[in-house]
Amino acid sequence: MQIRPLAAATTALGTILGFSALWLSAPTAHAAELRHGPTVIAHRGASAYAPENTLAAVDKADDLGIRWVENDVQRTKDGELVVIHDTNLKRTTDVEEVFPDRSPWKVSDFTLKEIRRLDAGSWFSPSYAGARVPTLEQYLDRVSDNHQKLLLEIKAPELYPGIERQTLRELRQGGWLDRYHVKHRLIIQAFSADSIKTVHSLRPDVKTGFLGTPAVADLPNYATFTDQINPNHKTVTREYVAAVHGFRGPHGRPLEVFTWTVDDGPTAARLAEYGVDGIISNKPDVIRDATREGSRAGGSAALAGAGAP
Ligand code: G3P
Ligand code: CA
Repeated sequence: MQIRPLAAATTALGTILGFSALWLSAPTAHAAELRHGPTVIAHRGASAYAPENTLAAVDKADDLGIRWVENDVQRTKDGELVVIHDTNLKRTTDVEEVFPDRSPWKVSDFTLKEIRRLDAGSWFSPSYAGARVPTLEQYLDRVSDNHQKLLLEIKAPELYPGIERQTLRELRQGGWLDRYHVKHRLIIQAFSADSIKTVHSLRPDVKTGFLGTPAVADLPNYATFTDQINPNHKTVTREYVAAVHGFRGPHGRPLEVFTWTVDDGPTAARLAEYGVDGIISNKPDVIRDATREGSRAGGSAALAGAGAP
C-alpha cells in the first residue's frame, strides 16, 4: 500500500490525537457539501487529466480537492477484481504489443499476473508511462488514504456471475462496509437492475444507484431496491428530476439523481438548477467551479435549485 505524504501526515495526526483523522474531517466535508451545489464526482477519477481508472486519476481528483471518485470493476480470468472500464484491454493499455496473439484481449481472458505487465498510462500521455490497471484492493486503499468517497460501478455484471457478492466481500475486507463508510462514503451502481437488486438483497444497508432513465411509471418498482436514479445528462429534464425526487427509496429518503457525463460549465449549471444531486465528470474542477455560489457560469440560480448531496 502506498501512502501519499499528505494523507500519511493527516493519519499520523489522528493517531497522535487518539482518534481517526477520517472522523475529524468527515463533518467538515459534509457541511461543505451541504453549503454548495450538487455533489461532484470524478468520473473514472479525474480522467480528463490522468489515465482513467488508475491510481493517478484518483490522486489527480484529490489534488483538485474532489472528494468523490467513480470507477468500474471487472474480473480477471483467475478471479481477481480489477478497475477498468472497457471489457477488453485494447484502448487503455498496451496489451496488443505485449500479447499480440491474444485477440480480442478481453479482461476476462487474462490473469492478474498478465494484466500487471500492462502499461495503462502511455496511451494517455508519456508522462504516465508505467501506470498499472489497479486491483480493486489497491484502488480502495488509495481512495482510503486520500480520505475520498467511492461511487463504485459494477461493469458488465452479466459477464461475471457472482461479482456482486465478491465485490461486497472485498469492500468488507477493506473496511468499506462499516457503518461510517456505508452511511457517508460508498455508493454501488450498475446499468443492470438485476445486479443492483442483488447488491441490495445481500447488503440492504448499502446505498445503490441504477444507471439509466427508467420511465416515471416504473420508478415505484426501482424505489424498492435503489437509492439513486443516475441518467445520462442528455435525458434529464427538470420534470424528470422532480418526478424522481417524488419517490422514497429503500432507506426512506427521496430518490437522488447523479447524472453523467458532464464536462462543461453551462450544462452543469443548468442541471444544478434542475435540482440534480450529483454530477459525474471527467473535469470535476470545471463542474465544481460552475455550480458553486458566485460562479459566473452557475451563479446563485444554480444553488437555488440544487438538491442535497
Ligand atoms: O458513472 C456513470 C458512468 O460511468 C456510466 O457510464 O460508460 O462511463 O461507465 P460509463
Ligand atoms: Ca462507470
